[in-house]
Amino acid sequence: MLVFKTILNTKKQRRKYNGNKCGLIPTMGSLHKGHLSLIEKALKKDDDIWVSIFINPTQFNCEKDLKKYPKNFDEDLKKIKSISNKINVFLPTESEIYPKKIESSKFNMNNLNNIFEGTHRPGHFEGVLTVVSKLFKIINPNNAYFGEKDFQQLFIIKNWQKYKSIPVNIIASPTIREKNGLAMSSRNCLLSKSIRNEAGFIFKSLSECKKICSNGNEIKQKLLEDFNKHMAFKLNYVACIDTNSFLEINEFKKFKESRLLISASVEGVRLIDNIALNN
Ligand code: PAF
Repeated sequence: MLVFKTILNTKKQRRKYNGNKCGLIPTMGSLHKGHLSLIEKALKKDDDIWVSIFINPTQFNCEKDLKKYPKNFDEDLKKIKSISNKINVFLPTESEIYPKKIESSKFNMNNLNNIFEGTHRPGHFEGVLTVVSKLFKIINPNNAYFGEKDFQQLFIIKNWQKYKSIPVNIIASPTIREKNGLAMSSRNCLLSKSIRNEAGFIFKSLSECKKICSNGNEIKQKLLEDFNKHMAFKLNYVACIDTNSFLEINEFKKFKESRLLISASVEGVRLIDNIALNN
């Protein structure tokens, strides 16, 4: 496993294996089984595999959230090495990625940046696209791997790639869950043990909604009732969307593909999750 801290050396290394199929797994570190499943997927498809670890400041709309974001670089490297020795890691500093000013570029996201997560985290998706576009330019991958947990992020990245004809395949992978159903996230380690256990109710509720509710209004009603039984948890939003347009819908059964999105906060940590409704 080789670790590169500069753009110059990363590009040099990439040039050596230019003919090979390159896969990139962009991460902010504190790797969990969700990230590792993306690496495993890349190992099956690509020859030159890169994991980037960079806690991207521009996607945090709140300084406090950025400061407390978990950092476990040594552990991360060990985890990557335990999967395969042939993976390259790009571990840049902030000034390497943002040499002049730590700021986002402008993107037209057709208003997708102003709904759901975007309403609660202004500037978040601009920051994500800024860093992803930088990483794509540096590594120049054929395939880039993202988890379905951040469903809106995935949709925005896919749309941007399509609209700008960026020659990278965006490959999505299902959410990996803890034993109690909680979607794996680097932020889960910020939760107390009892709340982390209790948080398993969220996915249980989503699964029940899928089973018993026939439209979005019924889903909202059920989730409000479920959240009332877990007073520490604040429901930020819940929405059924048409997966193709990302527009909110009520009669989800009339759509070919739809998703239920949810966001909640507990102990100062945002949790997001989603479930496919039509399969
Ligand atoms: O999903 C994440 O961890 C981040 O948003 C990403 C895609 C690595 C960009 O910083």
